[in-house]
Amino acid sequence: MTILNHVIATWRNPNCDFCNNSNRLFVSKIQFNCKFLILFILMNPIFFSFSNYLIMLFLLVYYISRTLTCNTYLGRSTKLLSTLGNIKPNTQTTIPLNTNNILNTKMDNQDISTPYTKSLTLDNMCPTVKTAQYAVRGELVIRAENIAHLLEKQKKEGTKLLPFNEIVYCNIGNPQQLKQQPISFFRQVLALCECPELLNSAHVDKVFPADAIARARELMASIGNTGAYSGSQGVASVLKSVAAFIESRDGHAADPSNIFLTDGASVAVQRMLRLLIRDRSDGIMIPIPQYPLYSATIELYGGSQLGYYLNEESGWGLEASELERSYNDAVSKGITPRALVIINPGNPTGQTLDAANMREIVAFCHRKRIVLLADEVYQENVYVKETKPFVSFKKVVMDMGKEVEGLELVSFHSVSKGFVGECGKRGGYMELHGITNEVKAEIYKLASIGLCPNVTGQIVVDLMVRPPVAGEQSYDTYVKERDTIFDSLKRRANLLAAALNGLEGVTCNQPEGAMYAFPQIRLPARAIEEAKANGKAPDAYYCIQLLEATGICVVPGSGFGQKDGTYHFRTTFLPSEQAIQGVCTRIADFHKNFMAKYK
Ligand SMILES: Cc1ncc(COP(=O)(O)O)c(C=O)c1O
Repeated sequence: MTILNHVIATWRNPNCDFCNNSNRLFVSKIQFNCKFLILFILMNPIFFSFSNYLIMLFLLVYYISRTLTCNTYLGRSTKLLSTLGNIKPNTQTTIPLNTNNILNTKMDNQDISTPYTKSLTLDNMCPTVKTAQYAVRGELVIRAENIAHLLEKQKKEGTKLLPFNEIVYCNIGNPQQLKQQPISFFRQVLALCECPELLNSAHVDKVFPADAIARARELMASIGNTGAYSGSQGVASVLKSVAAFIESRDGHAADPSNIFLTDGASVAVQRMLRLLIRDRSDGIMIPIPQYPLYSATIELYGGSQLGYYLNEESGWGLEASELERSYNDAVSKGITPRALVIINPGNPTGQTLDAANMREIVAFCHRKRIVLLADEVYQENVYVKETKPFVSFKKVVMDMGKEVEGLELVSFHSVSKGFVGECGKRGGYMELHGITNEVKAEIYKLASIGLCPNVTGQIVVDLMVRPPVAGEQSYDTYVKERDTIFDSLKRRANLLAAALNGLEGVTCNQPEGAMYAFPQIRLPARAIEEAKANGKAPDAYYCIQLLEATGICVVPGSGFGQKDGTYHFRTTFLPSEQAIQGVCTRIADFHKNFMAKYK
């Protein structure tokens, strides 16, 4: 009977409206009749009669002629006729057939003469998808993309439609989009891993350095094939590399079984928030301003955002008393704070925490029994290493020892930032500390549902945590490339902050880390009024005008959160050294005109 179901099911073209709508009831009836007729005939050869034969033949011919009228299915129908002869299931086109299901579908019950009603609409989709906001790819970027089309037209037609020739995307920390060069060793190893013919060719050593070849061979020995799924947690050898990196960075043991490789840090953050949020009564403490991955994901999962303000006057300092205020405020509203998010170095603020401040934060989480989520994706982007070197939360927790025993900490890192800047490769990891084995098993299950982190991204993670070492052929080039990018980022951070601080009504804290400046702009009252009259937040209004006058795309402070009555924007300092001076000049010219216009 199953074989017959298959045969009959393959007669219908699932992509054809005719088959799916008008033909459906007909098909199901025929299927029903044919099935029993054929069965009857097969099982009772002795009673096979001429009249039965005629009925069956009539039904088959009738149905086949209906099927052949289906144009889009002509080729397949012919094939199916031959399939009938073999009575073999066609697994590719098989639709699990259940007469009852077909008869009961909404579509079958609809009057086909009425227009098709969509079953998925804005009104009935998951509401939190609609309410979640993600400013760094929001309205400004959509406008920028539209302007980019105009610029293409301008280029093609040789006409001057706009006062600039390109969009400078300073809205997102995407280094290679702004021409940061990839680290050569990383790409060499990747190329060899992705192309086994290259790795095994007789001439490979003429093109690639010996250590890149050796590394690719070593990686491929443990990975096998970049086109195959790996384990859900990641490739075992890469997990070991990450643990070794953490150990040497912090001076404390790290266990590979506590590490999960992910498609960038975003996935890891989302996975933890998925686990922590049950409903609106679960709150996650996030900095204001914050990176909107957090606000958007908390909203998406139906939790509550519990903002704690960073202090702009003290260089975006994080004060324990403010954590306490935010916590108590949530509790008074019946919300249970479940976790505290710390972004260090900060995005969008660029502040870097010192160890004493970090100890206060850890003690706070321990006292309140909440999970500490430490976003450390900018750990390589610290420009004040002499006074405030990067210290990981894992190290602080381990150094505090018994005092904070039992604390639950999850730390995130990524290949997207620092001098690596491989955003498009989607590599990252999280390390669990103090998380129970039962919860770890659930995290593993979540990872398994997504099958595995992408394998190319895992290779980049391995390269990030295990770069060439002194004595290897690629070491000098690696160090030169790394330091050139880092030194240049530091110079660009200083240049941009100085230029912004030179503008009327603008103040900008010196970025100590990360890739962004987050200046406060004091807008004239008339500009604020006009923005409101246009239905825009004042800082969004300023940013739109900046984009349309200069082609520079930045993100309004309202997308990250800011104290009421203050206005900011976030810009990266990623444009190349040659370009950044031009960016500063264009911002300065625009700002002067804007202020003059609304005085
Ligand atoms: C603070 C912070 N966390 C996480 C991420 C996400 O990084 P990834 O590309 O690894 O998903 C970003 C990206 O800009 C970020 O700024």
